[in-house]
Amino acid sequence: MADKDGLKVAKDYHLDKAFANMGSFHVKGADSLDWGMKKHLSRIFNPKTGKTVMFAFDHGYFMGSTAGLERLDLVIPPLMPYVDVLMATRGALRSCVPANNDRGIALRVTSGSSMLNDDLSHEVVAVDIEDAIRMNADCMAVQTFIGADGQLSSIDNLSKVINAGFRYSIPTLGVVAVGKEMERTDRFFKLATRILAEMGCQIVKTYYCDNFEEVVAACPVPLVIAGGKKLPEKEALTLAYQVIKGGAAGVDMGRNIFQSTHPVEMAQAVRKIVHEGLTDKEAFDFFEDASHK
Ligand code: R5P
Repeated sequence: MADKDGLKVAKDYHLDKAFANMGSFHVKGADSLDWGMKKHLSRIFNPKTGKTVMFAFDHGYFMGSTAGLERLDLVIPPLMPYVDVLMATRGALRSCVPANNDRGIALRVTSGSSMLNDDLSHEVVAVDIEDAIRMNADCMAVQTFIGADGQLSSIDNLSKVINAGFRYSIPTLGVVAVGKEMERTDRFFKLATRILAEMGCQIVKTYYCDNFEEVVAACPVPLVIAGGKKLPEKEALTLAYQVIKGGAAGVDMGRNIFQSTHPVEMAQAVRKIVHEGLTDKEAFDFFEDASHK
């Protein structure tokens, strides 16, 4: 392991140069993966745009019943046509999401804490690879706590899931956790996203921050960006616009869709930014028009 003292500050991100190893496949860092892995990634990232709108409603895995998600059976189906991927627990999917849909599936496979704990960083792998296969998961989502008490166990969880994923060609989505004590700077996100990519994740979920383009450039696999706490719709659409402009391969948004005054119209507006190149202003105008009809 390299000596930590006297490290130079990383600075040569070559923002003017595109990722050099794209090959013919449309997903960053995935050109050398096998057919099955690429097939799953193509259900997540649209082959035409290279991007994705993931819809996260896995909050119940540690928050229980969450505002906006009180009735998964009623809330989720109307949103499904407007998103590419459903990110959820196996319990939510099996009980409340009709199987006769063609959305991609990001299956939450770790668990271990709840809102009653101060420290949320201790999790285990709770879903067997066999069940991910049975559910035809397109990727397995692992919460990863870099710099927190639970770092070692979450890296262990991540490694086990990545190893199982390689055995059966199912990608792993590493989710960068942020906590009360954890910083939300580009320094932290460059560290965390790069560790997850180098561990072998095929996709990394993280947060928007200053110097976001550098975080993207330093990460050799696609980044999808969490929405975070509920914002006014205009601000949430600006966030979506900034992350796409900054080089993210998509969003993985939850509360800013399902807690919106008009969730379906919000999902449509986000989709227009991600896949159709609308600006935040154009998408907000669409949202206002569509939600007043
Ligand atoms: C991340 O830790 C989990 O996947 C969350 O349940 C999800 O990312 C939250 O999405 P949002 O912050 O957009 O509500």
